Amino acid sequence: MKNIPVVMIIFGGSGDLAHRKLYPALFNLYEQGLIHDNFAVIGTARRPWSHEYLREQVSDAIHETHDQVDENDVKRFASHFYYQSHDVTNVEHYETLKKLAQELDDRYSAQGNRLFYMAMAPRFFGTIATHINDQSLTGSGFNRIVVEKPFGHDLASAEELNKEITASFNEDDIFRIDHYLGKEMIQNIMPMRFTNPLIKNIWTSENVKNIQVTLAERLGVEARGGYYDTSGALRDMVQNHIFQIITLLAMPEPKDLSSSSIHKAKQDLLESMIIPTPEEVEKDFVRGQYLGRDNTFAYKKEPNVDPESTTETFVAGKVKFKKGPVADVPIYFRTGKEFKEKKNRIDIVLKHMNNPYGQAHSNNITIEIDPVSKIYITINGKKIDTSGIRRENLTYEFSKEEMAKVPDGYERLLHDVFVDDSTNFTHWSELKRYWEFIDTVEDAWQKENEKGNPKISQYLPYRMGPKEASDIFESPTEHWIYE
Ligand code: BG6
Repeated sequence: MKNIPVVMIIFGGSGDLAHRKLYPALFNLYEQGLIHDNFAVIGTARRPWSHEYLREQVSDAIHETHDQVDENDVKRFASHFYYQSHDVTNVEHYETLKKLAQELDDRYSAQGNRLFYMAMAPRFFGTIATHINDQSLTGSGFNRIVVEKPFGHDLASAEELNKEITASFNEDDIFRIDHYLGKEMIQNIMPMRFTNPLIKNIWTSENVKNIQVTLAERLGVEARGGYYDTSGALRDMVQNHIFQIITLLAMPEPKDLSSSSIHKAKQDLLESMIIPTPEEVEKDFVRGQYLGRDNTFAYKKEPNVDPESTTETFVAGKVKFKKGPVADVPIYFRTGKEFKEKKNRIDIVLKHMNNPYGQAHSNNITIEIDPVSKIYITINGKKIDTSGIRRENLTYEFSKEEMAKVPDGYERLLHDVFVDDSTNFTHWSELKRYWEFIDTVEDAWQKENEKGNPKISQYLPYRMGPKEASDIFESPTEHWIYE
């Protein structure tokens, strides 16, 4: 693998994301030789850490995520890390950071390449981007920036943030990260759709009855109540992960596999996305909050959550497109906290076909993303002892050995940033359309809240979410396949 020279600056270097995801992923890329002798990482955050302390943290992070490591490698890798205590609003701190980056660039021959990573609370993204520009932190080589979600709180704030970032970076150098795009089964959607005549030929409005995307979580909001209560399931999961999945499911075949062709195919689809009217929001969307097992409020009692909160921990809804292979096919989605189990899955429900046996089932294609990865197609055949019809699954499954080889999403995506491949990142034009949709739903809900009697279904924990989510289907013959 190519050895990429770079000085990487992580804003949020003492945080949870850096510790759990970025440091282990960087170590794996180091072991593969993608970054090796010519790189340095500056971790910044408010805490007064030393270089040495950061290196210990990096080393701990690697030991926590790897069973076996070469201790000399860990030491050598950690020696490339530097800590800079940093207040994001303090101009002088950016000057110091700039100097340190230049010194490290000289020491490691990083060729003026800079990679900035926004891994701290999103409210600081804009301030940091502005200072990167004002204090000219960019280098003389490549300059790339990775931005964590959420990218804005609505379209207006996303546009503002984008303006602040594009003051220093070109669109091609902005990597808006969505960790779902690094998942094995999400990366499998395009090859599955476009290499199998069996699947590609039925992926049409004539054959597909509906598509269902479920991202279910067993956990509640845990320690993130403060953030979550200002966000909700729609912004936290639909605006990014669910919309990216739906885009991959509904987009036309790209001309080729280049990042620009794939983003173009996505954009062609998204231009035809139907934005719901307030009446449609009322009819086609359900929001909910989890209760405790004893049927009393539970979300509203979480730490840092407003006891009168109208924030949803569950949402179900519908999207349709005017163009693309599944134009006009309803795409239903739902996501929620405190479901019966962790399960991320997609069901492609095919239309029923009249046949002489009468009782045959429709074929469905299911893609399970997490916690297991598999694809299966339901298929009809003859029962052995009667002329009746039985239903079986044709399954494409990963073995344990194969699963063990699947890199973590962050490792994949960081790799892509280093090699400048933005295929699996969110383009501004996509994000904009997603926010337009989300804003419409949020506005409709806001109006309902203001009228004083918002429809928020309270649901029991560790089941399948509110029963009202079954009322959004267009026809009585439709239902959630995963129940
Ligand atoms: C994050 C959300 O983006 O995705 C979290 O902010 C959620 O609320 C998480 O728990 C789910 O990701 P995964 O990979 O565990 O399905």
